[in-house]
Amino acid sequence: MHLKRILTERIEKAFAELGLEGSALVQAASRPEYGDYQANGVMAAAKKSGRNPREVAADVVEAVDLDGIAHDLEIAGPGFLNITLTPEFLASTAGAVTPAEQAQTVVVDYSAPNLAKEMHVGHLRSTIIGDAIVRVLEALGHTVIRQNHVGDWGTQFGMLLCYLAETGEDSTELADLENFYRAAKTKFDEDPQFQDRARQAVVGLQSGDPDAGAQWQKFIDISMSHCQSIYDRLGVTLKAEHIQGESSYNEALPGIIDALAEKGLLTESDGAQCVFLDEFKTRKGDPLPVIVQKSDGGYLYATTDLAAVIYRTESLNADRALYFTDARQALYFRQIFAVANAAGFNRTDAHFEHMPFGAMLGDDGKPFKTREGGVVKLADLLDEAVERATALVREKNPDLPADEAQSIGEVIGIGAIKYADLSKNRTSDYVFDWEQMISFDGNTAPYLQYAYTRIQSIFRRGSIDPSTLPEEAIAAEDPERKLAVLIGGFDDVLEQVAAEGYPHFLCGYLYDLATRFMQFYEACPVLGEDEDVQTRRLVLSNQTAGRLRNGLDLLGIGVVERM
Ligand code: ARG
Repeated sequence: MHLKRILTERIEKAFAELGLEGSALVQAASRPEYGDYQANGVMAAAKKSGRNPREVAADVVEAVDLDGIAHDLEIAGPGFLNITLTPEFLASTAGAVTPAEQAQTVVVDYSAPNLAKEMHVGHLRSTIIGDAIVRVLEALGHTVIRQNHVGDWGTQFGMLLCYLAETGEDSTELADLENFYRAAKTKFDEDPQFQDRARQAVVGLQSGDPDAGAQWQKFIDISMSHCQSIYDRLGVTLKAEHIQGESSYNEALPGIIDALAEKGLLTESDGAQCVFLDEFKTRKGDPLPVIVQKSDGGYLYATTDLAAVIYRTESLNADRALYFTDARQALYFRQIFAVANAAGFNRTDAHFEHMPFGAMLGDDGKPFKTREGGVVKLADLLDEAVERATALVREKNPDLPADEAQSIGEVIGIGAIKYADLSKNRTSDYVFDWEQMISFDGNTAPYLQYAYTRIQSIFRRGSIDPSTLPEEAIAAEDPERKLAVLIGGFDDVLEQVAAEGYPHFLCGYLYDLATRFMQFYEACPVLGEDEDVQTRRLVLSNQTAGRLRNGLDLLGIGVVERM
């Protein structure tokens, strides 16, 4: 149930009847004595109409229809409206997620590692943030099309093919391939003749030479099966069928150049084909091009992305397309979407949005590296997380059998890494901190998972099967009400996450919910109270557990029954 949306609609209807302009600005009450929600929009609306805000507020209170939803609104301060929901309505807000009013087809472009190398921490953010958004969109009933736009094309593959052919190496181990790649890169940087041969090899690959193609395919398969094992371990929903790599656009690229030429958008500059749009200038004010074809005829990352816009529009029918890459590509995507618009490649009513994110930093404030200064491989990072979490679980609960401690450690360790990332504002950089993320205090996954197990242990202790409880309960005492108000706020949060692509709103919600549950639990004993009270509190506890489990699942994080 979209509490916030319902309240907003009702109040804005009253605004309209009173000839007021502006939004209701409904939000959760900043302090509990202000009720459950508050509307802050009256002051601005009054100002616009040149009237006294408290008088306008009184008119709104008179005009608004909140029958069966809230008690009479109270006016506070200069014209804030305090909203207290009726207990019956509040009880009805605890149900299953409400689907979006208009289901859309949403393409989500995420993960997209470059396949010449093993996955490293640079791929973590796109992979897990993208997957959380995918899950939330699906939960709201949208049709999501995952697109893993892997870097499987271009010069690096030429180098590798050339190197393998010239050295006769043909191991199929990923670690060997990485070494070959490194050696090939060194050779490429040092030896101009090798450079030429590598470029020839790319041309061979791109023009469909079967031997090169077969070698390349073998190489891609090895790389992808490595990525898949990381996805599975991370609990990320990407599968082989979601791969739509750069190579898949190869045949469409000449057509992109033709289409741009036909629209009169193409300019030759130093032998390269470019698109110049007025809105893009360098800092000095010089025109800033998007290069779509190099002077040697080769195509670029940008050409491929333009082809992808067409594919996503025409074949996938996207109403919306979200691109999760780091913030350094922000200008690039603005240019791509602008060129696509200018060329008429996408529907004007479709929304193509770059969802940038900041960097993962070490405690020195520099990009996160191994102690030796190398890139941190994702597989190693996940192993360490699980090891640390398992040790902690053992310490907290020495009686657990070893295999159970291990499987709990897996859920806690992976969850901790993901949550530490998802709970930060996506666009900021953040410092990767083991101690903080695996702690049971603060806004962490273990804290939420622990709150969940506390609730499960109430049911175990009382020998109560939660599925036999009634679905709704009327909150009575203050801590119960406060908990119920948060339980009811779930859909609004999901809608916000889906609209803006920021998982940290959901994390913040779950953290508040768990904290409020702890406060409730301290103030309100559950087991052993008289039957009505006990049932009511059990229902609230069960609803809280449901939201925690569901919310964590939407973040791609599991729960355990005990820890
Ligand atoms: N492979 C690219 C990189 O590692 C990310 C691709 C993002 N998606 C896109 N359509 N360009 O930077």
